[in-house]
Amino acid sequence: MDRLSLVELSRDDREKAVELAELARVIWTEHYTPLIGAEQVGYMLSKFQSAECILNDIAVNDYRYFTVYDGSKPVGYFAVRPELDKKALFLSKFYVEKNNRGRGIARRMLEKISNIAGECGLDYIWLTVNKHNDTSIRIYKRLGFRIVEELVTDIGSGFVMDDYKMRLDIGE
Ligand SMILES: CC(C)(COP(=O)(O)OP(=O)(O)OC[C@H]1O[C@@H](n2cnc3c(N)ncnc32)[C@H](O)[C@@H]1OP(=O)(O)O)[C@@H](O)C(=O)NCCC(=O)NCCS
Repeated sequence: MDRLSLVELSRDDREKAVELAELARVIWTEHYTPLIGAEQVGYMLSKFQSAECILNDIAVNDYRYFTVYDGSKPVGYFAVRPELDKKALFLSKFYVEKNNRGRGIARRMLEKISNIAGECGLDYIWLTVNKHNDTSIRIYKRLGFRIVEELVTDIGSGFVMDDYKMRLDIGE
């Protein structure tokens, strides 16, 4: 764990965005193909996790992306977007590479996320998770999140995201 570091992407760091997009491709392909099928995974990767989308989300849409490194190897990432009007922090992405799960990396990431929420004076963190993503739902509960809503989101091209909305109140 000592070798772990967390690095925030800057809006013009194309090299780091390409590295993160490649990590996302590996994690999403392995994890989501059994859940939603290869076609939807490919569609979502190109729509949400290309290097261009990531840089655009940082530059234009107020997202903050962080890569977790073990030494020099990227092993996880997360993205958040403060929603000051709602006093909320949207946790948009939360991923650890398969071989590095169960090492406490997500706990470390959540610590940083909670700090960001605290610094911005926000009341809670929220996320969406696929209803069939059972292990991750269990882990989110373990990390203190609770299910507050069911959400079906149309993402175009005939695809929908069938999710739970989960929430963690700051200070819990
Ligand atoms: C969800 C995910 C990010 C968790 O990352 P991780 O680094 O493996 O999690 P941690 O090791 O920090 O574990 C966090 C807590 O969950 C518990 N946990 C870990 N794996 C678990 C499992 N398979 N079942 C139940 N609990 C588990 C841990 O014990 C820990 O709790 P503790 O600190 O009280 O002991 C990771 O599993 C992942 O990337 N999953 C696939 C992608 C995904 O679905 N992401 C969420 C998208 S919405």
